[in-house]
Amino acid sequence: MTETKQGKLICVGTGMRMAGQVTPLAQSYIETADVVIGAVPNLFTRKWLQEIAKEFICVLGYYEDCDVEGKDRRDTYRRMADTILEQVRAGKTVCAAFYGHPGIFACISHMAIKDARAEGFSAEMLPGISAEDCLVADLGIDPGRTGMQSMETTQFMIYERKIDPTALFILWQPFLAGELSLKRFETTAARIQVLVDKLARDYPLDHPVILYEAATNPLEKTRMDTILLRDLPTTPMVGATTLVIPAAYPLKRDEAIIAQLNALPEAPRLEETATA
Ligand SMILES: C[S@@+](CC[C@H](N)C(=O)[O-])C[C@H]1O[C@@H](n2cnc3c(N)ncnc32)[C@H](O)[C@@H]1O
Repeated sequence: MTETKQGKLICVGTGMRMAGQVTPLAQSYIETADVVIGAVPNLFTRKWLQEIAKEFICVLGYYEDCDVEGKDRRDTYRRMADTILEQVRAGKTVCAAFYGHPGIFACISHMAIKDARAEGFSAEMLPGISAEDCLVADLGIDPGRTGMQSMETTQFMIYERKIDPTALFILWQPFLAGELSLKRFETTAARIQVLVDKLARDYPLDHPVILYEAATNPLEKTRMDTILLRDLPTTPMVGATTLVIPAAYPLKRDEAIIAQLNALPEAPRLEETATA
């Protein structure tokens, strides 16, 4: 039996809303860990973490590294993961807290867990409530109805991707669309226009798209603005905006496959096959 070393890492999510979206298990790790390390932008959530954690290390300031010549977001993420690892190596039970789900568009937790395990430490991730979970609830969209594609906006722009306009399409981080330096936290109307031009290969320019921003506290109002695709470059977006593109066309039946299935001989049910 392989023995794990004393340090331990648990990555948790705080959900999107300050109150009510942290799971009881995540909260119990936040309260009992030797140290909580957080990259949580919401001030109220950060204060709450500070209050209930035995010790709290905030790594948000590391984003300022991007201002240093030769450094970019990847260096910031690496430094955050290294800070987590330092505490694990010191033999502590470390709880790393991220907003939303700790593993959805959140590479630091994946990096830290992989490194901790490679060094023989116990490391795990607990699921949290992500922006995608909130948008399904707020917009009343069931991803199972048409199927769903979900990707980072710049990744969609700079790689050749096959988009299915009969399925729901969710684009994350549109406020960083086409920002290739990985140093700045903004985009421009010209870059959004490039995004629109690429989307126009699969969608009509008058296709309605939704700018979604989940409220993160009871004083905020959830943004659910429907605009035409062509108006995207002139519509304000912030860091919390997610772009939701509903299906533009109905599902088309694959008659060849349906015919092939119908032509198959009547087969025994699966459980009969398994016990035969
Ligand atoms: C680095 S990702 C973090 C996602 C987060 N881990 C989660 O589970 O939702 C940042 C992106 O998440 C989405 N996002 C963050 N906050 C949001 C909010 N309040 N409403 C809608 N989308 C949000 C936006 O697309 C944003 O650019």
